[in-house]
Amino acid sequence: MNKIPLAGFPALRLRRPRQSAWSRRLYAENKVSPDDFIWAIVLKDGQGLREPIAAMPGVFRLSPDEAVKAAKLAQSLGIPALALFPYTDADGRTPDGEEALNPDNLMCRAARAIKDAVPDIGLMADVALDPYTDHGHDGLLRHGEIVNDETVDILVQQSIIQARAGFDIIAPSDMMDGRVAAIRAGLDADGFQNIQIMAYAAKYASAFYGPYREAIGSSGVLKGDKRSYQMNPANSDEALREVALDLAEGADSVMVKPGLPCLDIVRRVKDAFGAPTFAFQVSGEYAMIRAAAQNGWLDGEAAMLESLMSFKRAGANGVITYFAADAAKALDI
Ligand code: PBG
Repeated sequence: MNKIPLAGFPALRLRRPRQSAWSRRLYAENKVSPDDFIWAIVLKDGQGLREPIAAMPGVFRLSPDEAVKAAKLAQSLGIPALALFPYTDADGRTPDGEEALNPDNLMCRAARAIKDAVPDIGLMADVALDPYTDHGHDGLLRHGEIVNDETVDILVQQSIIQARAGFDIIAPSDMMDGRVAAIRAGLDADGFQNIQIMAYAAKYASAFYGPYREAIGSSGVLKGDKRSYQMNPANSDEALREVALDLAEGADSVMVKPGLPCLDIVRRVKDAFGAPTFAFQVSGEYAMIRAAAQNGWLDGEAAMLESLMSFKRAGANGVITYFAADAAKALDI
């Protein structure tokens, strides 16, 4: 029997190109490659230390020597850059987070060790005070308020210290107003014209940062929440204003954070500005996929790769992710 299917619309067989692997490859509109990844790494003081993080199975707090090994692995996998975040216990924290300005702090020591051993890897530094303050906030706390301009002055000094230690990308995650312009001016005045700034431009007050705060030792100390400086998840026009400001202030690239809950923001930002746009697949997103996979509730590797692809489809140039090494290995097979 010769039936005429879909009479009149034979070209509408969108399933045709999906029939074989070669054809699916040929028709793919987006690709994920290790080139897209910035590997998020948590540091902790010590030697030979790989300390599990309860809420992030498969992620470890690494001592600087172990971070060097991670950098070598990243290089062998074709991952261009690492983003470092420091763990500090409650004893190492102070009201104003002075450790942020110590040129021999954990971040700076790790950066020097990595750059000595693996000079060609890119290194990104998180700029904010939350790993160092005894209240866990990203800025200075005065009379119950996070003060903006006084915080910015400290962030500029923190950025210069990080640049001197060898970081290539300064990434302010604090959400203070005006910090990108101030940091750019500070870096330039210190001779660091070629040090990039990736602004955490559209950063939302998100529940998905929970595991990270455990990872860096902030969860036990954080007082209150960060809604007076991080964005309201209800807003999207405001994200465009944040990005516009950060680009005008001299950011080389902008970030949207968290990632999957904000794919709509990634797309709007990319369409509106065409600037290099990165998404941060944050700790809670990592934890969700890993936890479900551990329970046998979903295919962890497939979910990881699909989530990374979705960032590319949304328009991101790259992704900051704890999955970077695992994903690079999975893509290599
Ligand atoms: C804080 C900072 C946070 C993250 C990166 N830098 C959390 C926060 O704002 O409390 C989140 C990273 C993650 O959840 O993976 N400056």
